[in-house]
Amino acid sequence: METLPEKTIDQLVRAASAARAFAYAPYSKFRVGAALLCPDGRMITGCNVENVSYGLTVCAERTAVLKAVSEGARSFDAVAVCADTDEPVTPCGACRQVLAEFNPAMTVICCTPSGTNIVYSLSELLPNAFNLKK
Ligand code: THU
Repeated sequence: METLPEKTIDQLVRAASAARAFAYAPYSKFRVGAALLCPDGRMITGCNVENVSYGLTVCAERTAVLKAVSEGARSFDAVAVCADTDEPVTPCGACRQVLAEFNPAMTVICCTPSGTNIVYSLSELLPNAFNLKK
């Protein structure tokens, strides 16, 4: 796993925490923010966007990935995910697969607004990710 400078982790965590404010979560009331880090230092944020047809909900991590790719960014060193829980939450299975599309070894920083961070590699959260064997 790439070791990121403390300052960069701190900035990414703050960006994910700030993105939580935009969460649209009227059904679950569970607000999540995410922030992706590009190699050039750019940070792209996302929040969860729920729908009355619950299955159409998009998690914060996937919102961030779709925003990033649609703006021309496809290379990510890390993602921070922030939810207001006692213990940080990890990305759901669908988001792990979507993140792995772009970097199966990216750093995943799971954090809370109160400042608890747990750092993983995506490869430990999603070992043996599906990939086309050509
Ligand atoms: N959610 C995320 O945005 N990211 C996660 O890592 C876990 C779950 C959202 C989806 C839904 O809007 C709410 O949290 C409750 O599951």
